[in-house]
Amino acid sequence: MTPVSSPDFIRADDVLHGRLSDAQSVYLEKKYGHGKLIRLLEVVGTGGPFKVLSPWELQDRAGQRVINASGYAALPFGDNPPELNAFLREVLAHTDQVMFAQQSITSWRAALEANLVRLLSRESGDHQSSRVFFSNSGAEAIEAAIKFAQAARPKAKYLINFTRAYHGKTLGSLSITPNPNLQGPFKNLLNPAVITLPYGDAEAVERAVKRVGDQVVAVVLEPILGEAGVRIPPPGFLRRVGEVCRAAGIIVIADEIQTGLGRAGHWFESVAQGLIPDILTLAKPLGGGMLPVGATIVREEIYKPLLGSIETVKRHSNTFGGNSLAMAVGLKSLELLMDHDYPSRSRQLGERGLTRLKALQRQYPALLEDVRGAGTLFAMNFRPVAKLPFKVQANLISEATGMLALVAFYRQGVLLNFSLNAARTMRLTPAMNMPDDLFDEMFSRVETAASMHASSFKLVQNYGTPELLALAKAAFLEE
Ligand SMILES: Cc1ncc(COP(=O)(O)O)c(C=O)c1O
Repeated sequence: MTPVSSPDFIRADDVLHGRLSDAQSVYLEKKYGHGKLIRLLEVVGTGGPFKVLSPWELQDRAGQRVINASGYAALPFGDNPPELNAFLREVLAHTDQVMFAQQSITSWRAALEANLVRLLSRESGDHQSSRVFFSNSGAEAIEAAIKFAQAARPKAKYLINFTRAYHGKTLGSLSITPNPNLQGPFKNLLNPAVITLPYGDAEAVERAVKRVGDQVVAVVLEPILGEAGVRIPPPGFLRRVGEVCRAAGIIVIADEIQTGLGRAGHWFESVAQGLIPDILTLAKPLGGGMLPVGATIVREEIYKPLLGSIETVKRHSNTFGGNSLAMAVGLKSLELLMDHDYPSRSRQLGERGLTRLKALQRQYPALLEDVRGAGTLFAMNFRPVAKLPFKVQANLISEATGMLALVAFYRQGVLLNFSLNAARTMRLTPAMNMPDDLFDEMFSRVETAASMHASSFKLVQNYGTPELLALAKAAFLEE
């Protein structure tokens, strides 16, 4: 094949047949893609390219086998699961439906719309006449939710969100993601009418509703904060928010993009905790880890003001949402989740894993400040590797702690997730169909990694400051 440094085009067949080497891919990604991130991952050693050994195990370029506890809750069945892979091949071989379905009816989309509404209505005893709008990511599902809500309450202007929430990085979803670092220079483009309340504080919601309730479009919440490191609200919080909003006519949007479809141990965490939202967003696992699928499920009366009349029917759309391939994968993913009752399995695995994490935290309190879990959404909160009085340094220390922990656990063969709103918290989001022995092995490796670093300071000693500085320098300073 032509050398990658030549300006010639790369043939798809060359990639298909493995003629683009790992080193060439790294070179091209760094040169033409998100170079800084790739460089950082390369130096930390967790960026692959990986060979997929099984849906749950990866092998890196150095030949190390790692159990994949990453995937950011988007891999319900692991990476490239054989059931979905085989099904996709069948779809491609046999379907006679249009692939590009923006302006046509297709059986694939019709079936997934019906199944999602039927599932939510089975679980909540409500939502029988709700509708589904499909998009291509979680952030887009949130954008649609905000637009549906605003169109249904046109005279109101405020959105209520919560501290440390994460709803995405497009401008609308970033408006309700109160992370100053992520909002950065875009602040002036974001919706100013956002009221951020302390997560878990139902009384704060009551007070805000009493004050400005008639001007509130919607309350947007995650039933468990995912990117803030699996933070579970106090019992009764979700139920109370639902009651307060219903009484005031305020729309409740439950963002179940991370928690939903079994990850936190139930089909819908909000519903399981007594809150029936008016709008519910889904994404990540709906695409089975294979294709992007976002869905916004909306009560009919809230759906209509945005898309229910001849004047407004074009106010929201996207080109590829609902395409047949994405819908086929979504339909099959949902079916696999139901046939195997993975939400229950996620709950059982969750109890088993959290028991081990709690024991570990008791054993190594100088390493682990806290551990948390809900279903197969686990978090380990590491103690800072050092204490410094200034905030800016504290942020750097947090970043360093997280990164060192990631490296330490990776070297014992477990790939963890960063948390976007909690630098010192690493999450495990293993596939819900991970075999029992591998699941137990994953926690054994976690225990080994912890035992080798009985305190956070040990992380610095083992992968010490010089190494960390070298990482930072290599990633950000040297070109
Ligand atoms: C709760 C929640 N909402 C929204 C999003 C955004 O989804 P996406 O990255 O697909 O845009 C995420 C992603 O992590 C999420 O966890």
